[in-house]
Amino acid sequence: MTRKLFVTTALPYANGPFHVGHIMEYIQADLWVRFQRMQGHDVKFVCADDAHGAPIMIAAEKAGLTPQAFVAEVAAGRPAYLNGFHIAFDHWHSTDAPENHQLAQDIYKALRQEGLIVERTIEQFFDPDKGMFLPDRFIKGECPKCGAQDQYGDNCEVCGAVYAPTDLKHPRSALSGATPVLKSSSHFFFALSSPRCVTFLKQWAQTPGRLQGEVLNKISEWFAEDEAGQSRLADWDISRDAPYFGIRIPDTDDKYFYVWLDAPVGYLASLKALLGPAFEGYVADPEVEQVHFIGKDIVTFHTLFWPAMLHFSGRKTPQHIYVHGHLTVLGEKMSKSRGTGISPLKYLELGLDAQWLRYYIAAKLNARVEDIDFNPEDFVTRVNSDLVGKYINIASRAAGFLTKRFAGRLSADLGVEGRTLLDGLRAPSEAIASLYEERETGKALREIMALADRVNEFVDQHKPWELAKQSGQEAVLHDVCSVCIEAFRILTVYLKPVLPALAAQVEAFLQVSPLQWSDAQRDLGASGSHTIAPYQHLMQRADLTKVNQLFEAPVSTTVSTTVSPKVSPGGEDIAEEITIDDFGKVDLRIARIVKAELVEGSDKLLRLTLDVGEVDDRGQARHRNVFSGIRSAYRPEDLTGKLTVLVANLAPRKMKFGVSEGMVLSAAHADGKAHPGLYVLQPWPGATPGMRVR
Ligand code: MSP
Ligand code: ZN
Repeated sequence: MTRKLFVTTALPYANGPFHVGHIMEYIQADLWVRFQRMQGHDVKFVCADDAHGAPIMIAAEKAGLTPQAFVAEVAAGRPAYLNGFHIAFDHWHSTDAPENHQLAQDIYKALRQEGLIVERTIEQFFDPDKGMFLPDRFIKGECPKCGAQDQYGDNCEVCGAVYAPTDLKHPRSALSGATPVLKSSSHFFFALSSPRCVTFLKQWAQTPGRLQGEVLNKISEWFAEDEAGQSRLADWDISRDAPYFGIRIPDTDDKYFYVWLDAPVGYLASLKALLGPAFEGYVADPEVEQVHFIGKDIVTFHTLFWPAMLHFSGRKTPQHIYVHGHLTVLGEKMSKSRGTGISPLKYLELGLDAQWLRYYIAAKLNARVEDIDFNPEDFVTRVNSDLVGKYINIASRAAGFLTKRFAGRLSADLGVEGRTLLDGLRAPSEAIASLYEERETGKALREIMALADRVNEFVDQHKPWELAKQSGQEAVLHDVCSVCIEAFRILTVYLKPVLPALAAQVEAFLQVSPLQWSDAQRDLGASGSHTIAPYQHLMQRADLTKVNQLFEAPVSTTVSTTVSPKVSPGGEDIAEEITIDDFGKVDLRIARIVKAELVEGSDKLLRLTLDVGEVDDRGQARHRNVFSGIRSAYRPEDLTGKLTVLVANLAPRKMKFGVSEGMVLSAAHADGKAHPGLYVLQPWPGATPGMRVR
């Protein structure tokens, strides 16, 4: 039976370019979609920019743009990434598009009709200068627990405490610096705590196959009753006051939907833009399976709010929510705000093959909610030993003989051993298909590589390069090489969801039409007249030095043309020799940059507040104040929260702006004019403040 699948990935915030975590999600979904299409299923695969919300409105204002122009600029950058990594959405939309305004308002009205929208007055921090209510992220103050300065309204980055913005000591608006005041406003809530919602959601979530076990476990906490027999599911605040970049709530003139109300509606809006008038019929079709691929951080939105919104507005709900863990880079979390990790665009610009990353990520993915790590050495090993060494190698070892000796024609015979080998490759086709279907792509690729091992053993046993030298072995050589090509074709079928562009090259080389899953069962040479094209190199090996360039700071565009007669490393000679005891006098410590600020009156310095793990006599965290001449190279917000290295026993130095209690290490060329660039030292992941560096 042909399945009808409506598949989405989460809609990325339109506040900046993609990071490699986004690309990972798209790769996971894209290869699943490609697999389904190879099975002959009908898939609509869509996504969109999540355009609304206060952070985007504020970012646009900072950039001097209207929010519309700001998100349009971000949207214009999307194709380079999507095409670059062979991610083939059928449509890319925006939650600010007319379809979404219409659908979100319709869904809201239907919920109101159902009596599930309630109005309540709440108190919130309000910025009197800006004349707006402040989202938690835009209120800063002193952590109520550890006293750390400059912490956000929802949690402390220093001690990890979680609190309400009203708990902050000395709160101030991050937008204007003004002290916020409490102000009341009337808000709309979606009555999720109502028994009908709770009953529906329980039943929806517990339907077998709907959610992964670990996801169901996690959200089941919400279904349990508290001591008082009340549902733990609270009503959901879905409105925000003007000014806000969002969709106007019907029958109000200054209220907007909270961004998370209209964001998932964007899935439907994007589909509607793709399908046109066929949209309503399609989404109401009971045969259509709606599947959302998302990350672990947005589970409650997709397993509670979204299905309830759909159900109580009279719409079908998703069949599956497939949740993945996060991608880390060298063990480090990627952060939306800090922009750490590797840039997917830089990956492409360096000339690294997109399919290497597709393969690497697919090889690490499974159906559970586990984080996976990008590690350059591991990356290079997997690409070179599996992809190139095991798979590509098969074609390159056999094709030359076929072209030179047999005019590219495949043998129809293949011999008993060859047939047995090929039968062995065809047999697990269903099992591999199930692994793809279940998103166990790591297991699928391990199976496929085990099959490639068998083919390589066959080649090693029959040694075509020796057969080629012996007289009277023509027929055997022809059979052996034909078996290899046939095996290579079967493996290509299995790998095609992950390596679509490579598969297209292989189709041209083998002179076959686009491979479908069932083609693994065919016998290409059976007619005795099928010929293949001459082999052309299919894939490069990955080079670690190049992959490591992903991590280097951007190269300066100023090129020095002066040729110096004597070349010293970094522009200066190595200093005079010292003993280990001399070195021991310098006490270097790992420090966390708790805060980084501009220094008024200085265009060179930043003021850093550092945590070196010290406490004062009262047991309170003691922070150091250090001035550092790195303003030209770093923005304060890029440094906050990062680790670095501090010379901790340097005599305090009185400066115009205050006392500096130590020195932060950084690297630079001696001739800063010819070789600009200044790089603060950062330890490898795992180091913690206070550790000595030696
Ligand atoms: N705009 C919301 C989603 C709305 S869906 C109706 C959002 N955007 S996001 O840009 O922050 O994240 C988009 C997707 O990327 C989410 O599924 C998120 O889990 C995923 N990822 C964000 N960081 C990631 C990694 N480091 N690794 C893998 N996926 C990551 O949330
Ligand atoms: Zn704290």
